[in-house]
Amino acid sequence: MEVQEALLNRRSIRKYKDQKISKENLDKILKAAMYAPSAMNLQAWRFIVIDDKEILVDTIKSISYAELLRQSAAAIIVCGDSSVEKNESWLLQNCSAAIQNILLSAHGLGIGSCWIAIHGMDDIYINTKAQFNLPDNIVPVSLISLGYPDEVVKTEERFNQDKIHFNKW
Ligand SMILES: Cc1cc2nc3c(=O)[nH]c(=O)nc-3n(C[C@H](O)[C@H](O)[C@H](O)COP(=O)(O)O)c2cc1C
Repeated sequence: MEVQEALLNRRSIRKYKDQKISKENLDKILKAAMYAPSAMNLQAWRFIVIDDKEILVDTIKSISYAELLRQSAAAIIVCGDSSVEKNESWLLQNCSAAIQNILLSAHGLGIGSCWIAIHGMDDIYINTKAQFNLPDNIVPVSLISLGYPDEVVKTEERFNQDKIHFNKW
């Protein structure tokens, strides 16, 4: 798939078929994540792959608005290691770059995804740290649900010249 086409056609997918994602495809997605840019190339991202149905459903207890996990085939919690990337803003930016690579890699493989925020949501952040037994230095940033799409989400026009400024505001 051509890069521009992938970028313009990716949509958040929240309904999934009852179809597993192979370990090979999960590895491809995780590899794409690890090829994201990161400040000083520290690559301080860490990943928790959830491919167990019971744990997926159990995660809804921690992330109450992640009902889509009932249907999803897998999920990845993208975390940052604050003992490696000490600047919190950079940690979040690095993990966001990895997340976007996850979304696009999945899309290229015909797998739908949806980004669910954890960081910045106090209760959800605390619940996730407890449920997954995360050490103090591991900062959960977001969860990405994954599954073969069972819905078609239309592409919309988003290009807006008014949002662009050349050379000064
Ligand atoms: C930081 C962040 C948090 C998000 N949280 C949720 C969420 O909790 N639930 C959800 O269904 N979608 C969530 N999304 C997906 C957005 O709703 C979605 O990206 C947006 O509506 C644009 O649609 P698109 O992804 O199809 O382009 C989140 C996206 C981002 C970047």
